[in-house]
Amino acid sequence: MFKKKMSMAAIIAAIGAMLLITFAAAQGELTDKELLGGLLYFDENLSQPAGQSCASCHDPQFAFVDPDSDIPVSEGVLPHRFGGRNSPSAAYAMYAPIRYFDVIEGLWIGGQFWDSRATGEVLGDPLADQALGPFLNPVEMANQNKVQVINNIAQSDYAGLFEEVWGMGSLNNVEEAYDRVALSIAAFERTAEFAKFNSKYDYYLQKCLGNGGDPAECALGVGPKAKKAGKAVFTPKEWSGLQLFMGENNNDGVLEKGEGAMCAACHVAEWTVAANNVVPDWAPEGMVPPMFTDFTYDNLGVPKSGHPLLVDADIDLGLGAIVGDPGENGKFKVMSLRNIGLTAPYAHNGFFLTLGEITHFYNTRDLPGVWPLSEYPDTVNFDELGNLGLSNADEDALVEFMKTLSDGYTQ
Ligand code: HEC
Ligand code: HEC
Repeated sequence: MFKKKMSMAAIIAAIGAMLLITFAAAQGELTDKELLGGLLYFDENLSQPAGQSCASCHDPQFAFVDPDSDIPVSEGVLPHRFGGRNSPSAAYAMYAPIRYFDVIEGLWIGGQFWDSRATGEVLGDPLADQALGPFLNPVEMANQNKVQVINNIAQSDYAGLFEEVWGMGSLNNVEEAYDRVALSIAAFERTAEFAKFNSKYDYYLQKCLGNGGDPAECALGVGPKAKKAGKAVFTPKEWSGLQLFMGENNNDGVLEKGEGAMCAACHVAEWTVAANNVVPDWAPEGMVPPMFTDFTYDNLGVPKSGHPLLVDADIDLGLGAIVGDPGENGKFKVMSLRNIGLTAPYAHNGFFLTLGEITHFYNTRDLPGVWPLSEYPDTVNFDELGNLGLSNADEDALVEFMKTLSDGYTQ
């Protein structure tokens, strides 16, 4: 027992999850590769010392984030070793494309991590590139080298499955085997468990489509069919939050009639074309429901964290440090807002403890004396946020709407 995280409840949850994926595999719902990825994802013997798996910080019981929401960052397997950022959800991460530079927009798009550093260019999939990292990260699973990881897999009771999936003797070549570990985990992270699409918002979408609504209008809550479905599914507050979320705002501190909060400018509510990922059976063919991100990067002007674990940290340059362009310093990934009601704290440094706080920040960042200075002031976005002119009731409505994006809604 190395960590407080390995409580009895956590062990039971891990065993439960293992049983669940083994069961899904037996039912033919998972391929062998996906099952292998699942066994790797939950295996707490793949850290040094044993005791931490991917699931420790991306727990299915906690919307695939770190259950330890009292701190803004995560503790590695070694006690008192902490990372520098908030753990994002592994759910819906599959939809991020391989990172590229959009020349027309002048924007970086795609990749994994807050700063895009798992681009997808190494193994052809951002999720696979991402999975290469944690095993060897000294503040995460803390293996000294790939040999330790592969040796532990060779001694596991799923070593045979590994060879079935990747070929006899495939554990003998450490470099190749390590890449295949990452590819297997990525395959598992592309299964339906990581993209349930059963939030209240999804239920509303289905209802709107069922009314004969146009998919784009349903997503944005526009038109009579959307309104009818909205009235049937959402509370009035959630519905007004949706309208605010989608509406534009010129950021002049006054909310004029017809204006909203500008959220969907970045957390876009558009259908996208499916590519090697999960599509719910109720969606128009080959289309993925809104992910509430455009996979770009931006500097919101989030203040430097004063939390004891981060107060002495260097300024986090985010995307800029990865792409080597000072113009991109201070920019972080526009995260998907799916399950956002379940994944506190918020932002790359966990500065905001609640959805209400971060919403208030969008609304009032530029009013004097309300917030500490931005961590990296030079590239802050002053066009789309900071002085929205929302009332307290508007902020509450936005929060209520965001909570409808949590999976597991039942009527
Ligand atoms: C000690 C906690 C910890 C462990 C263990 C861990 N992660 Fe993470 N994970 C994080 C943190 C923190 C980040 C964000 C780091 C950053 O952006 O620099 C992250 C980022 C990610 C992302 C990117 C999500 C996105 O939207 O950009 C994915 C996917 C992910 N982890 C999957 C995994 C997998 C797979 C494993 C096991 C091989 C794993 N993690 C192990 C804490 C952890
Ligand atoms: C200009 C683009 C942009 C706009 C407009 C925008 N966001 Fe964001 N959002 C981001 C970026 C970028 C991040 C990550 C910032 C960071 O961590 O530094 C983010 C993060 C968040 C998070 C935290 C995500 C997490 O996983 O911790 C929430 C919640 C959120 N936004 C809600 C909203 C709401 C509500 C609005 C409208 C009031 C909004 N956003 C408008 C770009 C935007």
